Amino acid sequence: MKYMVIGATGYIGSYLFTQLKKDGHDVIGTSRRRHTMNGFTYYDIRNSDIRDITSELSGENVTAIICVAEASIDRCYEDYESSYDINVRQTKKLIRTLSQEGIQSIFFSSDSVFDGTKGNYTEESPANACNQYGKMKAEMEQYLLANESDSCILRIPKTVNITKEKQNILTQWAEEMKTGTIRCIKGNKMSFIYMKDIYQACLTASKRPLHGLYHIAGDQAYTRAELAKKFCDKLGVSVLIQECPAEEFAFKDIRPLDISMSNLKWKKETGCQFIDMDSVIEAYVGNCKEREMD
Ligand SMILES: NC(=O)c1ccc[n+]([C@@H]2O[C@H](COP(=O)([O-])OP(=O)(O)OC[C@H]3O[C@@H](n4cnc5c(N)ncnc54)[C@H](OP(=O)(O)O)[C@@H]3O)[C@@H](O)[C@H]2O)c1
Repeated sequence: MKYMVIGATGYIGSYLFTQLKKDGHDVIGTSRRRHTMNGFTYYDIRNSDIRDITSELSGENVTAIICVAEASIDRCYEDYESSYDINVRQTKKLIRTLSQEGIQSIFFSSDSVFDGTKGNYTEESPANACNQYGKMKAEMEQYLLANESDSCILRIPKTVNITKEKQNILTQWAEEMKTGTIRCIKGNKMSFIYMKDIYQACLTASKRPLHGLYHIAGDQAYTRAELAKKFCDKLGVSVLIQECPAEEFAFKDIRPLDISMSNLKWKKETGCQFIDMDSVIEAYVGNCKEREMD
């Protein structure tokens, strides 16, 4: 099995690329930056032809993990045209071409496809996104389910890791903590997932292989404030955790509130389990303390 991580410089893509390599898999990672380091292959979804890369791979069993996206909710709103081009138009073309080349795609969708009025959504729950980012993801899901039956859609919530990336919400809270207050969107409840579980899900989806839509989501949902409190308690730091309505933040586009998701379909079909947030927080805090001692 060979892997392509398309968009290997982002939060999730860089983790998957590094971990696949560490575990001895044969993997190609792409970046849109020219003169790129770390052995990446140049690829910009807006103007490159993926066949320039796949032509080297003929005869091999390949899975492409698509991590290319404009993943910021507010940028999707502010810069709608270019975000739509990346997230929908070019991604559809990419997956079509990969499929013609006999390559299975794993596509990441998001809990933002839901309007957040109910929570505990399943794969059967109707999508009803309230922001542009979620609408783009919902359009991709519909397209893939209707036209690309070999592809696998992993719908994921906010992804948490045990290391200090700036996109990691634990790192963001650790920074905010220095002001004495952590502000959280009131009622924003999610099934936070550990990065390593996403990695394991990609391996499982490619090896079986699995097709269709799956929720890769933690067993337990937390509001941001609940998880932030766990984090502060573990660090032993006393901080004011302030829950404020979404309208009090300077967001450009709407935030759905309770977008918790059920992971039962995935667990039933694969037997896989997910790592709980207490363990993730404990490992993150342990890593921070180790770094302080270095
Ligand atoms: N992180 C989460 O918690 C989360 C939650 C739900 C769903 N997702 C989904 O998971 C996927 C990965 O998310 P992420 O958090 O890793 O996003 P990210 O950190 O923003 O990474 C996006 C990647 O896309 C690349 N990219 C952007 N425009 C490109 C272009 N025109 N051509 C080629 N590459 C381009 C970026 O390259 P540069 O590094 O050069 O900018 C980067 O490698 C996305 O589909 C996202 O919507 C993420």
